[in-house]
Amino acid sequence: MNKKIAVIGAGNVGASCALYLAEANLADIVMVDIIEGVPQGKGLDLTQAGPVRGYNAKVTGTNKFSDIKGADIVIMTAGLARKPGMSREDLLNMNAEIVGSVAKEIKKHAPQSYVIVVSNPLDLMTFHMQKVTGFPRNRVFGQAGILDSIRFRAFISMELGVAMTDTQAMVLGGHGDTMVPLPRYTTVAGIPISELISKDRIKAISERTRGGGGEIVKLLKTGSAYYAPAAATVDMCRAVFSDEKKVLPASAYLTGQYGIKDIYIGVPVVLGANGVEKILELKLNKSELAALQASAKTYKEHLKILGY
Ligand code: 2OP
Repeated sequence: MNKKIAVIGAGNVGASCALYLAEANLADIVMVDIIEGVPQGKGLDLTQAGPVRGYNAKVTGTNKFSDIKGADIVIMTAGLARKPGMSREDLLNMNAEIVGSVAKEIKKHAPQSYVIVVSNPLDLMTFHMQKVTGFPRNRVFGQAGILDSIRFRAFISMELGVAMTDTQAMVLGGHGDTMVPLPRYTTVAGIPISELISKDRIKAISERTRGGGGEIVKLLKTGSAYYAPAAATVDMCRAVFSDEKKVLPASAYLTGQYGIKDIYIGVPVVLGANGVEKILELKLNKSELAALQASAKTYKEHLKILGY
C-alpha cells in the first residue's frame, strides 16, 4: 500500500483502529506503544488474520517513534482511560503530559501528517496537540462527534426497530457531559425524529447519548469503549484519503463561529483531503446555541489549567 497510518497506543482503542483500518484496506499501519512486545505482537497477530479477512495491509508494531516516519495520518489514542466514577476531564493533567510528549515526536518524525486525536479529554487534548505540533489547524482534529452521533443513531435505531444506516444524527459540543445532541437535525431516512418518537423518549435518548461513554465504562469497570471510537476514527481516515468532503461532527478549531473562538469543540465540518476544509454554521435556536456556548465555556476554563 502506498499510504501509511501510524496509530499511537496499542491498547484497546489503538488495536481496534488497526483492525478496522486493515479491514478497510486503507493503508499500511504501524502501531507505536511504549510497552515492549505489545505493539509488535498485536501487529503480527493482525497480519496473520489478513489471508482470511482479505486484506493486504502491512500491520507492524514498534516501540520507536521514528518508525512513524512518512505517516500520512497519525491517530493519537495513547493515554489513560476512565474508570467508573471518573469524568473525562479527570484525566486532564495525566493525559496532557502524554499528548504533549507524543506531539513532539509527531512533529519531528511525521511533520506532514494529519493528526486525529482520540485521547481524552478529547477537545482539550486536540487543542494541546495542535499547540505543541504547531501544525495548521485543518490538519489536527478530534474524533468524538462521529462517536457521539453514532451512539445517538444506534439508540434511535434500537428505539424504532429501523436500519442503523437509515439514521442520521448530529451531536455538537465538547465530548463530555456538556455535549449537545441536536434532535432537530436528527432524522430517519430524512424523516425528522420528532415525527416518529415522542418528546419524552427523544429527551431520554439524548440523555443516554450524553452518558453513552460512561454507560460503557460502568459496564466494563476497567476501561472505556473502544469498538465504536475506533470505527468512528477509521471513518475519518477514509474521508481524508478519499477526499470525501464528508459532513460530520468533529472537534475543530473555532475562530468565531457560533460566537466561540480559540478553542477546539465539536461542530459540523467538511472533511476531505485537506482535513477540516470547512466548518458549517447551523442555524441553532436559542437553547441549542446556549448549550454549545456553555460547553465551550467549560473547556476554556479547563484550558487555563493547562496554562493556555
Ligand atoms: C467514549 O466516549 C472513550 O471517550 C470515549 O467512549
